Amino acid sequence: MEKIVIEGGTALHGTLRASGAKNAALPILIATLLAPGEHRLTNVPALTDTSYTLSLLGRLGCPSLIGPDSIRLDTTRVAFNEAPYDVVRKMRASVLVLGPLLARCGEAHVSLPGGCAIGTRPIDQHLKGLEALGCTFELSGGMIHGRADDLHGADFTFDVVTVTGTENVVMAAVLARGTSVLRNAAMEPEVVDLCNFLVSIGARIEGIGTDTLTVEGVPRLWAASRPYRILPDRIETGTYLCAAAVTGGDITVTGTDPGILGSVLDVLRAAGCEITTGADWIRCRRTGPLTPFEVTTAPYPDFPTDMQAQLMTVAALANGQSRIEETIFENRFMHAAELRRMGASLHHTSSVATIDGVEGLQGAAVMASDLRASAALVLAGLAATGLTEVLRIYHLDRGYENLVGKLRGVGARIGRVSDAVTDPGAMKRSLSAPEFEAIA
Ligand code: EPU
Repeated sequence: MEKIVIEGGTALHGTLRASGAKNAALPILIATLLAPGEHRLTNVPALTDTSYTLSLLGRLGCPSLIGPDSIRLDTTRVAFNEAPYDVVRKMRASVLVLGPLLARCGEAHVSLPGGCAIGTRPIDQHLKGLEALGCTFELSGGMIHGRADDLHGADFTFDVVTVTGTENVVMAAVLARGTSVLRNAAMEPEVVDLCNFLVSIGARIEGIGTDTLTVEGVPRLWAASRPYRILPDRIETGTYLCAAAVTGGDITVTGTDPGILGSVLDVLRAAGCEITTGADWIRCRRTGPLTPFEVTTAPYPDFPTDMQAQLMTVAALANGQSRIEETIFENRFMHAAELRRMGASLHHTSSVATIDGVEGLQGAAVMASDLRASAALVLAGLAATGLTEVLRIYHLDRGYENLVGKLRGVGARIGRVSDAVTDPGAMKRSLSAPEFEAIA
């Protein structure tokens, strides 16, 4: 296993490019199952979650070819309709094959995902929505066995706003007989991107970007002749803007979309950062002290839970007391204890964290618990004095393409090193430039 080593305390300056959004790429890759033919997708991020998804599609009989700037997927034949436990346990988003497999094959066998580090994460709304469309389910041996003998339109209201739940149900509705109206649908930009992709392969969806999706089922979908470009990753973008905030730097993220980061930019401005934007870039610059702020996570367009951990690192360095409320997941403050080990002053209940900003953080060995918690710890390491080691970085590889390379490009002293390499003195001293090159 590898870990990330950071020598912090350097203000980061420069420009880096956003990758495609993980949470749009995964459902769109899976949505290709709905339309026989050869699909071409561009701006797909190179992540372990992308590899898991391609290998899942391969197991269903749909091979893929990864080119320099696009992925080709051949979904002419779906030979199997099962996503077993060994696939779903690696990546919860695998459950997204349920809707497309039911719509295309009339039958699907998908392992029931368990909870994960951030919460219990039930999928009752996925099943309820698909049942409204005429699907039937039996649960046995940890598997969901689904049938869709008569997939038909329905008027369905989600009890809670769910991103992948909306995606699963909309992917089945596009091939259902008749009209579906999906109410209280998630409005996240990644859901919008999936719907736009579905339209590009022949689906009829109205209300895209609102909380009510009206889907006119069609008998068939076809792979589009033109490639589809995945939207930029707003969470990755926000994370790099936070890197400028915590180091007192000046970072411009290009190839992004300021229009889908409104709530995050508002919080960074409240924290004392100067934010400027263009059509496809965002610049974050901090010259003065960080100021405290209050933020509550909520479905889009409000502040995303996927930026909560990173903003906690910003709050840890602010000049006063900040408050962060998490309303989406019940266990998403795992990074707080690790930040405390780096000198942060904070306490929290299961949903509210109060953070008293400190003058500086100190490097330490810390353990990543999930993807965004890992990003928060990397940010803390960039701001801290001395060396930080972030362990269990496989979480980061699931969601941040070339994180180390991108941060090095804006001046960070950061590298990856095998976990097995131990240097007892490493946490007490800094690294010389050649030593750092050796681990990069
Ligand atoms: N929920 C239910 N029942 C359901 C589905 C969801 O009660 O059937 C609850 C959840 O327990 C949670 C809330 O609804 O309290 C929202 O969960 P949601 O279903 O929206 O989450 P998700 O679809 O499983 C996606 C992202 C997450 C992101 C959340 C919230 C993907 C692949 N994952 O998860 O991304 O945090 O939406 O925006 O799109 C990440 O990228 O780090 C990540 C965790």
